[in-house]
Amino acid sequence: MSNDQIILKHYRQVAQANGLAATCTMDDPFVRESETKFIEKEIERFIAERPDQLSFKLMDVGCGNGYLLSYLTARFPTLNCVGVEFTPELLELALSRNLEQAEFLAGDCRQPDFINGQFDIVITERVVINLLVHKQQFRALENIASKVLPGGIYLMVESFREPLAELNRARSEMSLELIEQSYQNRYLSEGHIKAMRRFGLDELPVMTPSNYLSSHFYITRVFHKAIRPSGGQVKFSRCSLFFRQALPPAIGNYSPILFRLFRKSKRAQASL
Ligand SMILES: C[S@@+](CC[C@H](N)C(=O)[O-])C[C@H]1O[C@@H](n2cnc3c(N)ncnc32)[C@H](O)[C@@H]1O
Repeated sequence: MSNDQIILKHYRQVAQANGLAATCTMDDPFVRESETKFIEKEIERFIAERPDQLSFKLMDVGCGNGYLLSYLTARFPTLNCVGVEFTPELLELALSRNLEQAEFLAGDCRQPDFINGQFDIVITERVVINLLVHKQQFRALENIASKVLPGGIYLMVESFREPLAELNRARSEMSLELIEQSYQNRYLSEGHIKAMRRFGLDELPVMTPSNYLSSHFYITRVFHKAIRPSGGQVKFSRCSLFFRQALPPAIGNYSPILFRLFRKSKRAQASL
């Protein structure tokens, strides 16, 4: 099976099993909610810093079933959104939302011309990790960067190898088996982030810490797994919830999913 067939088959099944649910493509509701809040806060700041601008163009690359755009369009009346999606069954779901402020298009971010025009805000939420070939990930990041307007931002929610290695070090201390990346993923590394400058994007500090999910990952993927008795609740336990509420977020580097923000310089050419 080719890589494209692997991805298309995986997300066809995901679409059929989950429909329009927020948990479609992300079964952990706390992770989904945290990702959404990170994106919302950064958009709020971006809009607040531009009081004279009446509308903002936003693109969600690999928009899945359109959950994020349904949330963002309800929250921000000044957004004009485009969702681009590779898997036909997920695109169908997104289209079925009939959102007034969003259009949904078929597209493949590995292609330089996957969408016309440029955007104030571009988002990927666990999408570049679905490109299973290293070179294609770089090409996609370059394409995505080229779609950001000068002065615009790219909000990246992607999974990284370095924190996965740290999470696995913590697990091996507790004699837990290592977590492997799922077959449909190829995590990014800090090398990808270095390349973003070449693509005209500078990384900026984020309002929600980049490692916000770290404590959650340590509690659910290390601590809870280590203390769970045989037959105890496997996922979403009160134990995990208790410790997440009792402890501060963003401790350590145990969450593969990181929140990152990039801005294109105002001097950058309209098209790279
Ligand atoms: C983990 S899901 C995330 C979906 C959505 N961003 C969300 O948060 O629910 C990854 C998405 O990327 C899409 N995708 C995979 N390869 C793509 C490509 N080459 N171009 C655009 N989207 C792609 C998949 O179809 C899937 O919808």
